[in-house]
Amino acid sequence: MDIAIIGPGRIGGNLARRLADAGHKVTLSFSRDEARLRALADELGGSAAQPSEAVAGAELVVISVPWSAIPQALDQAGSLAGKVVIDTTNQFGSGPMPAEGQTAASFNSARMPGARYTKSFNTLTSAFQVEVADRPPETRVVQWICGDDADAKQVVSGLIEQAGYVPVDLGGTKDCTVMEAPRRPGAVYGEEWRLPEALEVVTAVSEGRPIPDTPQYAD
Ligand SMILES: NC(=O)c1ccc[n+]([C@@H]2O[C@H](COP(=O)([O-])OP(=O)(O)OC[C@H]3O[C@@H](n4cnc5c(N)ncnc54)[C@H](OP(=O)(O)O)[C@@H]3O)[C@@H](O)[C@H]2O)c1
Repeated sequence: MDIAIIGPGRIGGNLARRLADAGHKVTLSFSRDEARLRALADELGGSAAQPSEAVAGAELVVISVPWSAIPQALDQAGSLAGKVVIDTTNQFGSGPMPAEGQTAASFNSARMPGARYTKSFNTLTSAFQVEVADRPPETRVVQWICGDDADAKQVVSGLIEQAGYVPVDLGGTKDCTVMEAPRRPGAVYGEEWRLPEALEVVTAVSEGRPIPDTPQYAD
C-alpha cells in the first residue's frame, strides 16, 4: 500500500519503520529539517516529499504531528478526501481545541473533510510502542482504534497487526473518550491492554458502563 507519513517523528517514525518493514511503500513528509527527513526515508527504503505530493500519491495518510502543528500540517497536505487517515495525535499544547464534551477524534475528523478518518497509536508512549512491537501473540499489546468508516477501520486494523500489535475497535469517533488523553482512572489511555481484557472494555463502552480496572500483567 502507498502510505504517506505526515510527521515521521517518534510515533510516526516508528510506524513508518514497521510499515516499510512489512513491505509498504512509505513516503515521509512534513519536517523542519529536509536533510533529516531524506536521511530517514533512505534508511527505511522509502521516499521524502512535500505533504501535498505525499498525500496525492497515497491511499493511506498517517497524521502524527504535535497538536499545535495540525493546522499547518493539514494546510500543507491539502485535501484528504477519499484517503484512509490514521490520526495519532493527542490534544496537548496549543491550537484549536475540541468543544466541551466533544472527543478529539470527532473534532479532528471534522477538520479533514471527506477523509476516511480513524484514530489509533495514540494511547501508548513512543518508547513503549517500539519496545513491544516484536512480542509473541500471547503478550501482544492492543492499539485501540476508533472511526466512523468500518471499511477504513478494517484496513487500519490490518496495518496494526502487520506493525506488531493487536487492533481493538472501540467504535465511532463519538464513542472513544476512554482512548483519549489525559491518563486517568476509567480510561485506557496511557495503559497496556491485551486482547482478552480489551474485549471487556469494548463491551462496557458499547453498553455505556464504566470500563474494568486496568489489568496488571506479570510478563
Ligand atoms: N511521543 C509519544 O509518546 C506519543 C504517544 C502517543 C501519541 N503521541 C501523539 O502523536 C503525535 C506525534 O507525537 P510525537 O511524539 O511523535 O512527536 P515528534 O516526535 O515531535 O514528531 C513530530 C513530527 O512532526 C514534524 N514537524 C513538522 N513541523 C513541525 C513543527 N512546526 N513543530 C513540531 N513538529 C513538526 C517533526 O519533524 P521535524 O522534527 O523533523 O521538524 C516530526 O516528524 C502528537 O500529537 C502526540 O501527542 C505521542
